[in-house]
Amino acid sequence: MKKIAVACLFVLLATTVATLARTQNSANAGPFTGRWVVRADNGDGTFRETVFALEQRGSTLTGRVINPTNEQPIVDGTVIGDNATFAVVTGRPPNERRAEYRATRQEISLAITVTRPSQNPQSLTASRGSATAGDLPARLEPPALHRVPDNGLARTPPMGWNSWNHFRGRVDAATVRAIADAMVSSGMKAAGYTYVNIDDTWEAGRNASGRILTNRKFPDMKALADDVHSKGLKLGIYSSPGHLTCAGYEGSYGHEEQDARTYAAWGIDYLKYDWCGAGRIYKDDEMQAVYQKMGDALRASGRDIVYSLCQYGRNNVWTWGPQVGGNLWRTTGDIGDSWDSMTRIGFGQDALAPHAGPGHWNDPDMLEIGNGGMTNTEYRTHMSLWALLAAPLLAGNDLRSMSPETIAILTNREIIAVDQDPLGRQGHRIRADGVIEVWDKPLQSGAHAVGLFNRGQSPARITVRWSELGLHQGAHAVRDLWTGRDLGRLDAGYATDVDAHGVALVRIER
Ligand code: GLA
Repeated sequence: MKKIAVACLFVLLATTVATLARTQNSANAGPFTGRWVVRADNGDGTFRETVFALEQRGSTLTGRVINPTNEQPIVDGTVIGDNATFAVVTGRPPNERRAEYRATRQEISLAITVTRPSQNPQSLTASRGSATAGDLPARLEPPALHRVPDNGLARTPPMGWNSWNHFRGRVDAATVRAIADAMVSSGMKAAGYTYVNIDDTWEAGRNASGRILTNRKFPDMKALADDVHSKGLKLGIYSSPGHLTCAGYEGSYGHEEQDARTYAAWGIDYLKYDWCGAGRIYKDDEMQAVYQKMGDALRASGRDIVYSLCQYGRNNVWTWGPQVGGNLWRTTGDIGDSWDSMTRIGFGQDALAPHAGPGHWNDPDMLEIGNGGMTNTEYRTHMSLWALLAAPLLAGNDLRSMSPETIAILTNREIIAVDQDPLGRQGHRIRADGVIEVWDKPLQSGAHAVGLFNRGQSPARITVRWSELGLHQGAHAVRDLWTGRDLGRLDAGYATDVDAHGVALVRIER
């Protein structure tokens, strides 16, 4: 009897303490506390969500802002009545960027205004989300490492087109069909371009059995693949090892084999697999295992699918890319359509030359040729550098409306032959004198493709001596690959005037 009374007393006490704690918590937790979700309409039946996980204690506001691919702590959060201000800082010193938020508590929502440096203020409405909104899916352990056998594809660097640089989220099936047509009618197909690659924003969610769905912009992926194939071209697609892609669309996390099977059933020939959302689940040193998972899945799909790794060159991907079945791997962050971006990337690839070869290539990102941010002289430099680097040649412009100059740059057969040379050696820098750089790519025939680059603001005379190329003295035939002119047989070297931001690309053979 006594025992029962003590037990009852204990239960009563525990309940009271718990109730007290709850009351105290809710007394402390201010009206901003909770998960607030902003849903941005992508216009294709999908939404991009940003979650504000807020906690208000008196006049102090803390918490996190959760985006598809990153999560940032809130700083300097203050509440006065129905209004709150807080900030989020991204990037590292000295390149930090601060976004300032003002939020007003309304009946059932938050009205938020965000101001970022050199951008107009943006107004958002956040609604109450579930207690777990923005939470990550449960972590799946990455597999043990092994070597994925070579798939035998991409013996020369892949050539084709990708939607991202020009179209971003505005790509749809009709555009892809028109691009495929233009690839044929412009002569690009005849010059070797084959892959028509859809980048991010084709995805919707998944159906009840977990199968990936396409959004409104791509009503029938199989029919699109059939169409592209009927033109003698191949179709590529995009996904992420994370739960979300960079643009916040559905990724392949936990569905790798199923997605690879779906791609194969659709007739997909190329997959670009972009880290993004995976960065919230895995550490960089787990990338190899995570990429291996899709490498295995593609192989198990039974279809020939070129495997393009996109993790911005982190964790020395060139040392393990081939082991996960990768045919190419991005070596840098995203290219932009500017001289600075293109040259920073292109001239920065020298040290990676030993890692490229048939079946496995360094990828300094897609071409910007024809997008309008550089001059044709600069675009010729872009094309020459990418060819010397044995880089994938994935045009990133609108093929439906190209100027004759753009077509001429993209389809120059002799420059493409440098890129596609079967020896598969990536060119390297043999000399840099200030703004002058000379790059050499040995070719299968024993000839050398040599780029004489002028990164400076005024014309310059540039020389290459045979001795610098490891060639014997004596007559060597020199051919200018941009003008298509033979320049005769020269004994010790070659010198020419090169425009500002320009290049002379020559083939030198005994
Ligand atoms: C990343 C990639 C880009 C592109 C976008 C799509 O930024 O590096 O090439 O695929 O994602 O969201």
